[in-house]
Amino acid sequence: MLYDRLTCYFLSGTGNSYRAARWLTEAVAEEGTKSETVPIAVARPAVDLQKGARQLVGLYHPAHGLMPPWSMIKFILRLPRGRGAHAVVVSTRGAIPLGPVMIPGATGLALFFPVLVLLLKGYRVRGALGLDMPVNMLNLHWGMTERNAGRVVERAKRRHQRLVSAVLAKKHYWHPLNLIWELAWCIPFVFWPFFPIAYLLIGRIFMAKLMFADTSCKGCGRCARNCPCQAIKMVGAKPKTPFWTHRCEVCMRCMGYCKFKSVQASHLWLVPVLYGTSLLTASSLQWGLMILLDWPVQIVGLANRPIHYALTALALPLFYYLFFGLQRIKPLRTMFTYTTLTKLYRRRYHEPDTEAREMNRRSDS
Ligand SMILES: Cc1cc2nc3c(=O)[nH]c(=O)nc-3n(C[C@H](O)[C@H](O)[C@H](O)COP(=O)(O)O)c2cc1C
Repeated sequence: MLYDRLTCYFLSGTGNSYRAARWLTEAVAEEGTKSETVPIAVARPAVDLQKGARQLVGLYHPAHGLMPPWSMIKFILRLPRGRGAHAVVVSTRGAIPLGPVMIPGATGLALFFPVLVLLLKGYRVRGALGLDMPVNMLNLHWGMTERNAGRVVERAKRRHQRLVSAVLAKKHYWHPLNLIWELAWCIPFVFWPFFPIAYLLIGRIFMAKLMFADTSCKGCGRCARNCPCQAIKMVGAKPKTPFWTHRCEVCMRCMGYCKFKSVQASHLWLVPVLYGTSLLTASSLQWGLMILLDWPVQIVGLANRPIHYALTALALPLFYYLFFGLQRIKPLRTMFTYTTLTKLYRRRYHEPDTEAREMNRRSDS
């Protein structure tokens, strides 16, 4: 037997990373190794992991803005010391098929950050892979046809098989072209090291604050039950409505798995939000700094950008309460429903063979 145990931790929005994690656990289990896929929300690595080279650890997650999602970063940082355990890292990325050509995604630090932390913690990293799976940015992209999604998943399975074969042969797996491509995507971090923080703000405070349930929502609460971050609350009188809290990491599970395709991102709401925060900044600069505090124009000019960002970050969550409140007025909710691109293109995506509830529990192979 290769290993005594494989513990494959994953975080997955629409099932891509979960599916890849299953490919590994199923193949390793066939060799007689006790193998488990474990969602990070219920993981107890201090209890699960044994020390030494007979333990194999897998880390599977999507790339979110060239980084692992924030809950995955926290999980990786809290992992116990490796004490010689073997590890593999797979970050799935969003590929887009364009006719016969496949435009690859990019994981950047989503791949290298976990590898680095694992090495520092004393794990022996055996391989890492940025794996093209169907793109799932449903709030910005029109989703894939089933045929195209199937093609991308099949191709990914073949690529991932090379890593599996290396693991089963107790060999290393480092694909030079894959690594060079991902390394190139780390260059932005050299020039803009605040990217992860900027993404946290953009993802959590901005993108998450455009989510809403349209008039077809039945209040079933499936989105709240399935959310990997427990970020959705069902509120109000029956039928209840989902409310996206600040914990949302925009993983797209709610949108990808809603049976009635009721979860939308409001593109119309962007207009008052952007206009409102600009207005708020301009007036606070003019009335606060220039008139009340009598600051010189040059200093106010310098303060413009940081104040704009800070005010926008503060205002957006507050605007979301307003957005949510406005939806109680039926004609306004109807207007939001029919003015979002996600309603117009209607297509949704989740990994074809994956049920949302599978991703919330540990599964043995
Ligand atoms: C908020 C968000 C950010 C994303 N950022 C990236 C990215 O930086 N690079 C990339 O290739 N794909 C990106 N994607 C696409 C996903 O990484 C990709 O579709 C992944 O396979 C989804 O996996 P999951 O279903 O396990 O969540 C992003 C998706 C979302 C929802």
